[in-house]
Amino acid sequence: MLPVLAFIYLAAFIMSTSAQSTPHILVYTATKGYRHESIPAAIDVLGQQADRWNVSFTFTEDPSMFTTDTLSQFDGVMFALNSGEVLDDDGQAALQTFFQSGGVYTGVHSGSACLYNDTNYAQAVGALFDYHPELQSATFERLNDTHPATKNLPDRFTWEEEVYNFRSDPRSNDAVILLTVDENSYQHGGSSTGDYPDQGTPHPIAWYIESPKSALPLQADAPRAGRSFYTSLGHLNTTWQNDTFIDHLMGGLTWALEGRSTRAYGVGLVGNSSAEEDGKSTPSGTTSASVSESSGAAATSGAAGQSRVGSSNMGLTAAAVAGAIGAGIALVL
Ligand SMILES: *[C@@H]1O[C@H](CO)[C@@H](O)[C@H](O)[C@H]1NC(C)=O
Ligand SMILES: *[C@@H]1O[C@H](CO)[C@@H](O)[C@H](O)[C@H]1NC(C)=O
Ligand SMILES: *[C@@H]1O[C@H](CO)[C@@H](O)[C@H](O)[C@H]1NC(C)=O
Ligand SMILES: *[C@@H]1O[C@H](CO)[C@@H](O)[C@H](O)[C@H]1NC(C)=O
Ligand SMILES: *[C@@H]1O[C@H](CO)[C@@H](O)[C@H](O)[C@H]1NC(C)=O
Ligand SMILES: *[C@@H]1O[C@H](CO)[C@@H](O)[C@H](O)[C@H]1NC(C)=O
Repeated sequence: MLPVLAFIYLAAFIMSTSAQSTPHILVYTATKGYRHESIPAAIDVLGQQADRWNVSFTFTEDPSMFTTDTLSQFDGVMFALNSGEVLDDDGQAALQTFFQSGGVYTGVHSGSACLYNDTNYAQAVGALFDYHPELQSATFERLNDTHPATKNLPDRFTWEEEVYNFRSDPRSNDAVILLTVDENSYQHGGSSTGDYPDQGTPHPIAWYIESPKSALPLQADAPRAGRSFYTSLGHLNTTWQNDTFIDHLMGGLTWALEGRSTRAYGVGLVGNSSAEEDGKSTPSGTTSASVSESSGAAATSGAAGQSRVGSSNMGLTAAAVAGAIGAGIALVL
């Protein structure tokens, strides 16, 4: 009896350790217009949260990372606080190939206010930002108490936020709405920037898409297209510093990854396969990291150890960024 049990435990241990490596997420905060003050807070907080949520983040504003080759190292991309045309046509095409290879999408706040001309991107995010009334206190309501992005949220919560309105109904892109807003809880204002389809009711605030649409077919041998999660919350520094928000965002990201469409889960064409990681000669032990892009992003860091920043990877790891901030080194983003 005992040896059998021991064997089962050993087998389970080997299976769980060999099939699962740490999902690797590219966080993209590039802007081509409005720039949120909360970008440094977002990077700082995500960097601190990575270990707790068993993911690793690389932070970048470098559009040249959006090639099929570079993206193939990642299990997911997170578009956070962007604006405007942050990728060219080649970058947009590589991103689409990534999604149709199983790479997952997460969008935060104005992650829906970029790449307006890219229909595929619109389908991945679900709906694009149209306008918002003034920043003010509003009451948000939970529509789903089991989804990982909302199960730990209160049924109703009130905070300062820009209540986003969208250029279409994300439900038309197969989104399931997770959060809405109490329409009587804030002063409406602002007006639509065009003659767009209705965003539908209840007013979409955060949602998920199990199987995002795309004009590009699934790549050969891809298990499935990557899942998508989007939240329009996240305007203020204080929001990023709120554990309820982080639980919402990281719950959504984790849910998208748990669709098991990537190499971190032992399947698929993209993502972190630790075995490959070990065999590859990526620059390791880098003790200083710096990025300097056309977009103007720059950072220096004295973080040792895990920093994996080199010529082939112009991003910043969470450790590097957290290190830079911890060491009080100016982080200009
Ligand atoms: C890949 O997964 C391994 C095993 O979990 C982890 O040690 C490593 O840091 C991950 N690499 C990246 C780039 O996320
Ligand atoms: C948000 O944080 C940034 C630095 O991280 C700071 O420059 C900015 O003033 C803060 N904004 C507010 C409204 O506190
Ligand atoms: C992260 O991994 C550890 C060890 O496997 C586990 O105990 C913990 O619950 C995981 N955390 C999350 C948020 O999944
Ligand atoms: C987006 O498409 C519109 C209409 O075709 C065009 O006028 C505009 O210049 C495009 N914007 C960008 C940034 O490509
Ligand atoms: C809540 O989310 C779960 C997925 O986590 C889904 O199965 C369920 O249908 C959703 N419920 C509603 C009311 O949308
Ligand atoms: C975070 O937001 C929740 C929901 O509004 C609120 O209950 C909580 O007090 C906030 N936490 C902090 C530290 O502000």
